[in-house]
Amino acid sequence: MNENDIVKTDFLVIGSGIAGLQFAIEVSKIGKVVIVTKQKIFDSNTELAQGGIAAAIDETDSFESHIEDTYKASVGLGHKSVIEEIVSSAPNIIENMIQMGVKFNTKNGKKISISNLALAKEGGHSRKRIIYVEDFTGREIEQQMIEIVRKNPNIKIYENHMTVDLITQHHIKGNGQFLPGITCWGAYVLDIQNGKVKRFLANKTLLATGGCGQIYYYTTNSETATGDGIAMAYRAGARIANMEFIQFHPTTLYQPDSQRAFLISEAVRGEGAILRLPDHSEFMKEYHPMENLAPRDVVSQAIDFEMVKNGYKFVYLDLTHLNPEKMIARFPQIYKKCIENGFDFTKDMIPVVPAAHYTCGGILSNTDGETDIKNLYACGETACIGLHGANRLASNSLLEGAVTSNNAAKLPQNIEKIKFPNIPKWSEENIFDENEWVVISHNKSTLREMMWNYVGIIRSNRRLQYASERIRIFYREIEEFYQKNPVRRDLIEARNLATTAYLIIRSAIMRKESRGLHFNRNYPEKKKEFEKDTII
Ligand code: SIN
Repeated sequence: MNENDIVKTDFLVIGSGIAGLQFAIEVSKIGKVVIVTKQKIFDSNTELAQGGIAAAIDETDSFESHIEDTYKASVGLGHKSVIEEIVSSAPNIIENMIQMGVKFNTKNGKKISISNLALAKEGGHSRKRIIYVEDFTGREIEQQMIEIVRKNPNIKIYENHMTVDLITQHHIKGNGQFLPGITCWGAYVLDIQNGKVKRFLANKTLLATGGCGQIYYYTTNSETATGDGIAMAYRAGARIANMEFIQFHPTTLYQPDSQRAFLISEAVRGEGAILRLPDHSEFMKEYHPMENLAPRDVVSQAIDFEMVKNGYKFVYLDLTHLNPEKMIARFPQIYKKCIENGFDFTKDMIPVVPAAHYTCGGILSNTDGETDIKNLYACGETACIGLHGANRLASNSLLEGAVTSNNAAKLPQNIEKIKFPNIPKWSEENIFDENEWVVISHNKSTLREMMWNYVGIIRSNRRLQYASERIRIFYREIEEFYQKNPVRRDLIEARNLATTAYLIIRSAIMRKESRGLHFNRNYPEKKKEFEKDTII
């Protein structure tokens, strides 16, 4: 093998949110780690997470209650053993984060300890159990983890590097197809700044690339959330589950000209804020006994229903009756953003709309992050372990990312035993720049609009059929372009978005019922025969 373009390591971590960093920190105790991340290490959905981490740590709370709320929110599709394992691991994970230096809010501002943490309420939870850092919990966790990672001599970080594809038998010319099973030996990685693709070879590879919110026109997600891990694992032959369950967050600031939706945390409703129609009437009472704090699928669908029925562009979130000083101190980031947009939430109601927020499906994996592919793990939003089912309970996602990547890191690793086959260099044979990049940017934006309009909160057979016809055209055009042009970030992302959109549309067509986040007007009810995961 020509060694010039090879980076060899024990553990390759793709993605730098909570799951990737937690795994990197743990496995650095036994081997060398490389983290590949396509922007700066800080850029991820974790960094944007406002709400917090759900954990039954209060003496009046119980694992049983957290398990029940998670299962109820999942609308019958959550796997009970998985929910039990994740929920009961929460106190240890929180303790671990306190040890890392995460400064969670405390009840009385006194010394931080697990028995002294302040607790908030969010949708679908029967009690206060969200541990938080004001309205920037994810940012604080990410900062502390990055500090640890940066000081660790066993961890090397490659920013502005993007994985093109996982390396498996498929890439080994000649005898690859005769090797048994599918094994991952690392990935082809593009240095975005110089356009060169290198072979990153690793004994174990972790996909921690987050979800695919960028497939929708309006999303709360980071621009990095383009379904990269899901698309790569699918191309490599792994099973993908439950992609029809895309969670739309009910409350993002109404800014019609901005595709990046600013989240107004559900914790705001947890503190007593009320959703109102433009005539100022309350409406959630008609939809669910938990009213403003109903599970997210219910609240988003109710808002969408009211907006479509009455032709409203937004609904309002009203905090004006709450203690102004307390609200400003509790939600400083949201207050600042609202002021910048001309709303003082202590006096004005905030116009809000739903936006794509979380991918409940993903690469079929277990609670240790193991996938169908040997030596390939998937953790966090990119994985589907059976925790969320048809709808994720608020603040269970950072928890899932931390628990599963911690589990994956604790598996017996046998890193010394791997022998790499002869893995070819990245080939640029017959590749030349056609200078037609407008095709890619145009496809990307029309794809996002199509997904928003046809495969959004409310779906129907006709919309899904049209989406299915359109995605085949996008897919073919992007794939053809990919075969002929040099790889670039926007091309790799367009390819991954098209693959992920295809998986969402196909899963949505397969589920001929309405359940949780998947609502199809032609089958408005739940059906017993669909009380199962959708697997592709
Ligand atoms: C929020 O703060 O509303 C988001 C929390 C989550 O998505 O779990």
